[in-house]
Order: sequence, then C-alpha cells, then structure tokens
Amino acid sequence: MIELPGLIDPHVHVREPGQTHKEDWDTATQAALAGGVTMILAMPNTKPPIFDEITLTLALQAAKSKARCDYGQYLGAGPANAAEVARLAPRAAALKMYLDSTFGELRLNDMTLWVEHFRHWSGPGPIVLHAESRSMAAALAFAQMFDQPVHIAHVSLREEILTIREAKARGVKVTCEVCPHHLFFTQSALDGSSVVNGRLEVRPRLATQADVNALWDNLDVIDCFATDHAPHTLAEKDGENPPPGFPGLETLLPLLLTAVAEGRLTLQQLVEKAYTNPRRIFGLPEQPETRVIVDEQAEYELRAAEMKSRCGWTPFEGWKVKGRVRKVILRGHEVVRDGQILAAPGFGRDVRAS
Ligand code: NCD
Ligand code: ZN
Repeated sequence: MIELPGLIDPHVHVREPGQTHKEDWDTATQAALAGGVTMILAMPNTKPPIFDEITLTLALQAAKSKARCDYGQYLGAGPANAAEVARLAPRAAALKMYLDSTFGELRLNDMTLWVEHFRHWSGPGPIVLHAESRSMAAALAFAQMFDQPVHIAHVSLREEILTIREAKARGVKVTCEVCPHHLFFTQSALDGSSVVNGRLEVRPRLATQADVNALWDNLDVIDCFATDHAPHTLAEKDGENPPPGFPGLETLLPLLLTAVAEGRLTLQQLVEKAYTNPRRIFGLPEQPETRVIVDEQAEYELRAAEMKSRCGWTPFEGWKVKGRVRKVILRGHEVVRDGQILAAPGFGRDVRAS
C-alpha cells in the first residue's frame, strides 16, 4: 500500500446547473472521491453559464447541498462581464476564457474583449484559457503584455508544449495542464466504426503519436494533470451530433499509477502535478488529515459499470491498469472504502468560503 495526498483536479465539468442528465454535483463529486480526487474546480460552461452573481450563486448553492468533496467554481469570461467577474473573484476558483470553439457558447472572438478581462482580473487564480495552437500563442502574448498569470488548459500538441517551454524560459507567467487522454490516446484510436468515432470526439482533438511523445518528453514543462472530466451520455455520444468530451475522474489515478509501474513517470512527479502544483497555482487551502491509500500492486480492467459518474461510459473501457484506490480520508473522515462512497452530500466545502 502507498499513501498519497488527496488529489486536486483543476478542470471538471460538473454539468449543474442545467444538464443534470449528464452529471450533477452529487455524482461528479462521488466520481472524484472514487478516483482519489478530494478537490475539484468546476468549469463554467453550464446551462446557464456561470458568468455573473446570479449564476455563480446558483452553482454554489447546488454545490453546497450536494458536493461530497471540496470544490471551487470558475467564472466564465463573457463579452461584457469583465468588471463584474473581477468583483466576484473572491468567491470563484479562477476565470475561464474560451478563445477556441468547444461545447457551450462562451467563445470570445474579438480580441478587444480579451483586453478587458486581462486588464481587470487580479485573481485569486490565473486566467485559465482554452486556447489551442496559434490562439495559445496569442494568449501568451497577452500574458506578457498585461503581466498577467495564465494557465493553458488541456495542452495536447508538440508545438504547444515546446512554445510553453520557451515562454517559461523567457519569464512569461504561464503554467499548463495536460489530460490523461492526451497522454494515453493518439488519433489512431479514431480508426474504427462511426459509433466509436462519436465516442472519441473531444476538444482538443486526440493528436498524433509525435504530439503524445512530445508531452512525455517534456514532463518537466507540465505543471498539472487535469482530467477535463466532460461527461456526456452514451446516447448523446453515439447519436447524430456527438458532443465532445470524455469522463476522466475515475481513470486519472489508475492510468497514472500504471505509468509509474511502467517507469514512465515517478510517484514524485505524480504528486507534484496532481496536488502540489495545482494547489500553488490556484492558491487552494490545505485539506488537513487528508490522504488516499492505494494498492499499487492491484491489477484489473477499467469498467464503466463500476464507476460513479452518471454518464455511464469511459473511453478506457477494458484497459488493463495497475493501482487501485482502497481508501480515501478527507479532513479526518473516511470518505471512500473499497469503491463505496461514505461521505454524504453536503460534506464538501467551498475552497473560497472564508
Ligand atoms: C468540454 C465539455 O464537454 O464541456 N468538452 C471537451 O471536449 N473537452 C468542453 C471543453 O473543455 O472544451
Ligand atoms: Zn473542459
């Protein structure tokens, strides 16, 4: 058995308010705990999106009554809310800004709208950007112009990770995260039936083997592992317009522990990127008496049927992994024992509550 700190996932789509047929604060936080994640930061692309006082209060009220692990809620950067989100910032995990298209309607096309947010935002937490390829370069230019810390979400390409390396070396205040699916899948997984293709829709898209290799070769540039847990139901994924996104909370730790067993990652790197760095980058509170007990020798196959997420599937179905969560202790309470969730709804705390 080995003992890890409670993991922190800075990129989770909880789907509440508005799309609770996919997931809600109860099921998302059960999935988190089952995966050894004791703190999640929730993305704002809900229905409605979280972009003002009313919607932030709506999300935080649902979280307060239903969450079983600790949480923070992102605000979304909209076309006319820069002053308001800066004022609401103390209640939020950080600010999320979408420069590229994805699930939801928060994309900011006009660069003058970026200016307003870069001018106003002063934390807590960096500006987190969905910005791929050349949009990412634009985000780095803005970070430098405004001397503003930015965090690049779900880096997937060789050109991105190498450009972030250069930016860091030149003093740009940039950090970044990588998702397990971009470390363990390549686009060749897409060679298959159309049903499978719909399931494998995700933003950023799965990349080439050269991209995946570049991520592994530049682990030192990766600050955080984040799941981008983006649950959609199987009916939606296999339907006509499959929405992009993978669930990930319950597969993060077994996949990473398997990489540790294979010698591709050290336990120290795992802890640094799934706990120490997210905690520092987002200025998150300590969770006293919190730990995850893992049987690092347990070998088994990943099965969606055994998972807590409401979406009911995983892109890693049947994958052989090594390393299983046996027990999770959160703030002195046993909250998971052998796949059973013992924490009640409402046990989770808001990381920004004073
Ligand atoms: C996310 C979702 O479904 O909310 N989808 C995805 O493919 N990652 C949106 C996002 O994070 O871009
Ligand atoms: Zn996301």
